[in-house]
Amino acid sequence: MSNGLIAVAIALCGFLVTMIGYSTVSPPWRLTISATPDLPFDHFSLVAPLYERVIRPPDAHWLRELCAFEPGHRLLDVGGGTGRVSQHFRGDVASICILDVSVGMLREALSKGGFCAGSGAAEWLPFRDGAFERIIAIDSFHHFRNHRRAAGELLRVLAPGGRLVIEEPDIRRFRVKLVALGETLALMRSHFYPPHALMRFFDVPGVQLTLRESSPNFWLVVEKPPEHHTPTVPGYPKKPGTVLLG
Ligand SMILES: C[S@@+](CC[C@H](N)C(=O)[O-])C[C@H]1O[C@@H](n2cnc3c(N)ncnc32)[C@H](O)[C@@H]1O
Repeated sequence: MSNGLIAVAIALCGFLVTMIGYSTVSPPWRLTISATPDLPFDHFSLVAPLYERVIRPPDAHWLRELCAFEPGHRLLDVGGGTGRVSQHFRGDVASICILDVSVGMLREALSKGGFCAGSGAAEWLPFRDGAFERIIAIDSFHHFRNHRRAAGELLRVLAPGGRLVIEEPDIRRFRVKLVALGETLALMRSHFYPPHALMRFFDVPGVQLTLRESSPNFWLVVEKPPEHHTPTVPGYPKKPGTVLLG
């Protein structure tokens, strides 16, 4: 079967699973499985036990090169899910924290050990300014609800001199367009940006951006200069009552 047919089959299955989920759960349960108020259905908790059997392992060697880890680094994996990616870096850094809205995905991560894991959204990171020398967001940015706000939060919790690596599927590729269609049919409300549109979210004075591409993905490396103070995100004050960790 071609890539295209596989993607369409996945899309249809996703749509059916979502519809079955909606039709079989009672309203209170539907509410409690939502990690954020505007998330209608937590698709990832549903697939969490099977996730790593279906999604291929990451190219840890390539990501390690992009991240340039040092032993003392604190690593934050935003939208890190089951720890599919950051589990490979447990020996590279001092600590790893996985943050994700999906409790089912986090449960899988915690079962592996070696991580701290927290339930939360990229748009409201529960960490103090500059708490992490390295941050990764692998295949998760397009799932965030408010991309501008999430970008501001990623920059805020990145330490001066720190590095953020974002991996995204390149929506200019045909097979990624099919995946995007599948996610739309599955009511996932994801939004994919082409590389230069993603870069605009991080276009802050002093912040250095490097783009690497290898179809069907691209990587944006965001480097905060050592003397950099935390850029403010206009219009988004800290959420009252947010607990700051790290
Ligand atoms: C495609 S999975 C990728 C998981 C992991 N990074 C990997 O590569 O295996 C996307 C993840 O982003 C999480 N996610 C979606 N929206 C989020 C948000 N607003 N904040 C944090 N995580 C989010 C999902 O729950 C899911 O675990």
